[in-house]
Amino acid sequence: MKRSTLIQSAFESGLIAPSILSADFSCLGEEIKSVEKEGVRWIHVDVMDGHFVPNLTIGPVVVESIRPKSKSVLDCHLMVSEPKKWLEAFAGSGADCITVHVETGKDIRPLLKKIRSLKCMAGISINPATPVSAIKNLLNDVDLVLVMSVNPGFGGQKFIESVLEKIKTLVELRGNRKYLIEVDGGIHEKNIAAVRSAGADIMVAGSAVFGEKNRKKSLGKLQKALDRAN
Ligand code: DX5
Ligand code: ZN
Repeated sequence: MKRSTLIQSAFESGLIAPSILSADFSCLGEEIKSVEKEGVRWIHVDVMDGHFVPNLTIGPVVVESIRPKSKSVLDCHLMVSEPKKWLEAFAGSGADCITVHVETGKDIRPLLKKIRSLKCMAGISINPATPVSAIKNLLNDVDLVLVMSVNPGFGGQKFIESVLEKIKTLVELRGNRKYLIEVDGGIHEKNIAAVRSAGADIMVAGSAVFGEKNRKKSLGKLQKALDRAN
């Protein structure tokens, strides 16, 4: 499915984006196939460097190996202190979207321009404690805003309700701009409708999808709950 079609459907009815952080890394190809079989076409890839967050996960080599096996948008969430070092490697490995954190403190606008020059969608992420005002001047330079609804580093955490207001603010600020609003962390069947109703276009779900062996069931429950919001 073309990226533009996917983006359109995200705006119109919302998309579930499974995070592979909660998948079985011993058979990542099969894990991705198990959700794509149910229609998933947006995969969230959690990259952690053990400095920006207290966990260490994967690098470009994993994106390179899953790229030929996946029909999905590979949405790389860089929870790393030095994102500049990694942009070319992730773009070259097949990332479709690269998201960096405003909290890295680096000069962000050149990073976003560089991501776009590498033909990837540029995303900016804010942690739960970071106000929307921290990225207000960057909203013309992004294709996606990633609102963290947990403190980054691990899957299976509890959703932080206060971020719902930030989603609404980002909808108001969007105007005729076209950035997607993605929400990430602690999303499950009991809260996905509230996240969508607040204005999210893409809902990341790790443990709620991969935490159950039966992916038809886990995704079906999330989709049914999401449909209630539309
Ligand atoms: C946390 C990651 C999230 C996480 C989502 O740092 O950015 O994407 O994997 O997992 P769940 O849905 O289990 O909270
Ligand atoms: Zn993430």
